[in-house]
Amino acid sequence: IRVALLAGGASGEREVSLAGAAGFEDAIDRDKYELRRYDTKSDLGKLAEDAADIDVAFILLHGIHGEDGTVQGYLDLLGIPYQGSGVLGSALAMDKNMAKVLYRLNGLPVADWVMASHGDIENPGRILETLNFPLVIKPIREGSSLGMSVARNVEELQRGIEIAYQHDSEVMVEQFVSGREITVGVLGNEKLSALPLIEIIPGDEYPFFDYTAKYKKGASNEICPADVKEEVSILAKEYAVAAHRVLQLRGYSRTDMMLASDGALYILETNTIPGMTPTSLLPQAAKEFGLNFTELIDTLLQLALE
Ligand code: DAL
Ligand code: MG
Repeated sequence: IRVALLAGGASGEREVSLAGAAGFEDAIDRDKYELRRYDTKSDLGKLAEDAADIDVAFILLHGIHGEDGTVQGYLDLLGIPYQGSGVLGSALAMDKNMAKVLYRLNGLPVADWVMASHGDIENPGRILETLNFPLVIKPIREGSSLGMSVARNVEELQRGIEIAYQHDSEVMVEQFVSGREITVGVLGNEKLSALPLIEIIPGDEYPFFDYTAKYKKGASNEICPADVKEEVSILAKEYAVAAHRVLQLRGYSRTDMMLASDGALYILETNTIPGMTPTSLLPQAAKEFGLNFTELIDTLLQLALE
């Protein structure tokens, strides 16, 4: 089976993608799969030329022009199947505002939020009419917490909105949920399996699971299966599967949540191309589920070809 590995790209998560691709190349079963690699920053023409000789693509790209439906649309045009979600699901999940609208419409718990405007940098009073500190500021179409910050006062809120606008033309401000960070992977096409929960414990020096806490070796502690009550685990799995369905996703996804101090769960977002280095969260959960990294790659490619 001839696989095109799409990695690199031009988003803020390029380095995360390249790290994932290196691990993928090491782990993929060479007896079964023949691999060619394409960087979507420079090789889109080549990919089109080679399309007839490609059986399936693995999109190992994160963020804009990778995880947001655009590459998925390009592959649809070229007639190449790929792992994971299609155009609509990818676009919905990438947009944190649209995703939250859909979660809420479907009764899934999310923290309150408002969309920011440029005027809020000068005068954020409007936001404080509905939300209270601490707040989280997010560019709506970014990954790996890029451009995100926590604000505990007006100054930090203003600065945070300004920074987020450097990453995206749309920015949201969300009620901060204090508690434990949980993530839940989902695997399958029609029949979905929720993977064991992972709890992420960022080091004390990190205000939240930010870019450094995510990728600096040893900066965070990840516990799988998470040490939570059985009923929390069951509910978190239900939410992850529901989030996957509500956003029209396919193949796999990973939904990030907060377990608040009062025991309530809140969905933060769903990632359609979760980090894929062998020690990333979804591969860790898959391993606990019984699929090593090589088997996970195989499963995702087989789901793509179904
Ligand atoms: N956006 C990163 C890659 C993740 O969700 O794992
Ligand atoms: Mg994300």
